[in-house]
Amino acid sequence: MTDKKITTSVLFEMKKKGEKITMLTAYDHIMAAQMDECGIDMILVGDSVGNVVLGYENTIPVTMDEMIHHCKAVTRGAKRALVIGDMPFMSYQASEEEAVKNAGRFLKEAHVEAIKLEGGDEIAKTLKRIVDAGIPAMGHLGLTPQSVNKFGGYGVRGGGEEEAEKIINDAKKLEEAGAFSIVLEKVPASLAKKITSELSIPTVGIGAGVHCDGQVLVTHDMLGLFEKFKPKFSKRYAELGKIMKDSYRKYIEEVKSEEFPAEEHSY
Ligand code: KIV
Repeated sequence: MTDKKITTSVLFEMKKKGEKITMLTAYDHIMAAQMDECGIDMILVGDSVGNVVLGYENTIPVTMDEMIHHCKAVTRGAKRALVIGDMPFMSYQASEEEAVKNAGRFLKEAHVEAIKLEGGDEIAKTLKRIVDAGIPAMGHLGLTPQSVNKFGGYGVRGGGEEEAEKIINDAKKLEEAGAFSIVLEKVPASLAKKITSELSIPTVGIGAGVHCDGQVLVTHDMLGLFEKFKPKFSKRYAELGKIMKDSYRKYIEEVKSEEFPAEEHSY
């Protein structure tokens, strides 16, 4: 790992050199600072904050103000990583003007360096307007959780030939529109491989196999903090949920039994 600040040009260089790109989600200052110190390339303040932090059923209710609040905490912690703010549902779909203004809020108020939005051809014009305003934009194809009601679930996308063709075409449209990178979520590894080889911008996969230029995971999943369910594509690098609950139980027990505070904790 170099100390070099990660910018969109560094990411293009990494793709050219075949150097894998790493991305994780973060929603607060300490997590962002820790992963930045460890050398993560990109930090996504995902609208998954709705599921894993705010207790919503899905990402639909997440608001611009909630995203800005969490992005501010993250950018105060990250120095080297490129920080990306995820545009929440209905912050970019209704009009291009509103989309540009909301994308601008992420940079002006929360100091992120790029934004991400879900969708293909149907949002390509909007993405271009955002990029034309000087805001780097990342695309997101395959499983797009904000469209859960349209697709009726969180299944794999692009398994059939027709849908795979659409995703390939969407990826090309987003590249033409000026996206600096595209997240590919829950698509067959062979499809992600094809898209990755046909694009000059980096792809970042989640449940999209090993051939993407980079990988992203939801941090609460990979740390075992979010215990409600374990997606097949996520790997648990720790069981922090268990460690935290054991600590709470021990604390409760020790306070009740007057084992805590001991002499060394007292004045
Ligand atoms: O919101 C999020 O965390 C995301 C990732 C799953 C890519 O969009």
